[in-house]
Amino acid sequence: MKVIGICGSPKTEGSTTLIGLKKAMEQVEVHGIETEIIEISKYNISGCDACGDCSKTGYCSINDEFSSVLFDKLGDKEVKGVIFATPVYFGGMTSQLKALIDRCVVFRRRGFEWENRVAGVLTIGGSRNGGQELTAMDLVATAMIHGMVVVPDASPTSHFGGILHGRHQGGVENDEIGLQTAANLGFKVGEITKKLYS
Ligand SMILES: Cc1cc2nc3c(=O)[nH]c(=O)nc-3n(C[C@H](O)[C@H](O)[C@H](O)COP(=O)(O)O)c2cc1C
Repeated sequence: MKVIGICGSPKTEGSTTLIGLKKAMEQVEVHGIETEIIEISKYNISGCDACGDCSKTGYCSINDEFSSVLFDKLGDKEVKGVIFATPVYFGGMTSQLKALIDRCVVFRRRGFEWENRVAGVLTIGGSRNGGQELTAMDLVATAMIHGMVVVPDASPTSHFGGILHGRHQGGVENDEIGLQTAANLGFKVGEITKKLYS
């Protein structure tokens, strides 16, 4: 049993999203579940070109690191949960994460391979109210279209997942409430994954 965290920041260093995501993954591990973080900044991923090949062959025909590396990682049957994490860019997810998500249509077309995986979402904006919840809902839609089981952050914060403020005074490290939502998200994803798959 494994939970994957996908960090949608394009930054190769100093990502605030990664700080929040790591906080969440620590709490997944509290349940004895293995975790892995995929930083999409480490991969070159093209957008979907709508060629339709995946409907016929079950594989993506674009020859890049999605096909050569991430397809196997994301399709691994041991993965029972996914946390999608992104900075807010103009009130939505980053283009890099969107490219990855669109390419993941292949898993839907292979017979809903992500169905019933547990999903949680985490977003971080530079502004306190910069579109975090809107972006969270976009990621929720992604998860639902795969037939995933979307969970919130655990109580007592319990709303839309991890919601963080990147330019908090003193940095995201001082966004105590935001980091608590991230931790509670990880805890809930771990809890429900274990309940569904133990
Ligand atoms: C192109 C661009 C667009 C952004 N748009 C928003 C926005 O709409 N709302 C917001 O709160 N922050 C916005 N930000 C700020 C980032 O969301 C914020 O700095 C975040 O913490 C970056 O995460 P990272 O350090 O993991 O890359 C934007 C940043 C960039 C580069």
